[in-house]
Amino acid sequence: MKDLRHDNLNPFTGACVDPPNICIVTEYCAKGSLKDVLENEDVKLDNMFNASIIGDIVRGMTYLHDSQLRSHGNLKSTNCLVDSRWVVKIADFGLHELKFGADSGDDDSTDFEKQCAKLLWRAPELLRDPNARPSGTQKGDVYSFGIILYEIMARSGPFGQTDKTPSEIIKCVMRRDRNPPFRPRISKLEDSFDCVIDCMQECWAEDPEDRPDFKTIRTKLRPMRKGMKNNIFDNMLAMMEKYANNLEALVDERTDQLIEEKKKTDALLYEMLPKQGDYRKGSTYFGFIFANNPEECCLYSLACNEIRSNAEDFRKPGPTRLVIKNCVNNGEVMLYLKTESILRVRL
Ligand SMILES: Nc1ncnc2c1ncn2[C@@H]1O[C@H](COP(=O)(O)OP(=O)(O)OP(=O)(O)O)[C@@H](O)[C@H]1O
Ligand SMILES: [Mg+2]
Repeated sequence: MKDLRHDNLNPFTGACVDPPNICIVTEYCAKGSLKDVLENEDVKLDNMFNASIIGDIVRGMTYLHDSQLRSHGNLKSTNCLVDSRWVVKIADFGLHELKFGADSGDDDSTDFEKQCAKLLWRAPELLRDPNARPSGTQKGDVYSFGIILYEIMARSGPFGQTDKTPSEIIKCVMRRDRNPPFRPRISKLEDSFDCVIDCMQECWAEDPEDRPDFKTIRTKLRPMRKGMKNNIFDNMLAMMEKYANNLEALVDERTDQLIEEKKKTDALLYEMLPKQGDYRKGSTYFGFIFANNPEECCLYSLACNEIRSNAEDFRKPGPTRLVIKNCVNNGEVMLYLKTESILRVRL
């Protein structure tokens, strides 16, 4: 168990086997289980997220099936954990003997429907077999994966919205005389990729021999991942990079537009303002300047210095009495600042 190491497996650290506190120590996954994520309406899962989640599960399961463990036996959305980087890690593999009977002393989990709810991912042939090994089979894992695929695409539980209780669903799945066999309703998945719908149906085929293995599943789902990187984080980075580049281009375009507009304003102001020589030198004009923050006041004072005004009071915010020595006619005068502002002075 300790030697099983893969990006998409939740690593086993160790176990405490001293009664009464028997426990398994594994790596913590900050976002909880895939079930938690799918049930959280605040998490919007677009195609990129779905493809990444599915790709992670397929990679983890391929590794597990190739390992000495051979199969998981309890693959379901609560055993697919999601870490802080949105990488899915398969958990609770192996250790079936250690966990055997762990639920029996717990009042909550002895509840029959709760027990049945935990079996909703189990393949029909394993549900029917009272001697089925807890480690399950590879084909059984593929069936479970088919149900998880449905869960990801429909986001309404392993069998969608249904009036049936978990035990009724299990009974329906176990029946041999149903044709077609009882499965989640795919009519709800119209917007999903065809390859995903086809794949989930193949995975939950009644005859285990008709189910593909995980390597084949990976190939079948390839159209979903077209143009994408391996995990969500890399995809998000790629998206953000693209977005930043677009934004840069947009900023350049807007800056050009701004420069054009400024040129027009400059030209207009140049026509409107009196020429330097038109100021009557030595005359004194009184006016009020309305500046609401010191920064603006500085600009004003700079502008007024340019026309050699008396700008002593200009660094104070609020209306300021102003004496402009070299200015224009009575009435409202516009002083053109070299920065963006136009300063209005009432004389
Ligand atoms: N390593 C972990 N990091 C973060 N959350 C975890 C971790 N392990 C379990 N959890 C949370 O605890 C919940 C219950 O997990 P637990 O394994 O005890 O029960 P289960 O997966 O529902 O059933 P089973 O006992 O069959 O695996 C998960 O759904 C998940 O939300
Ligand atoms: Mg679990």
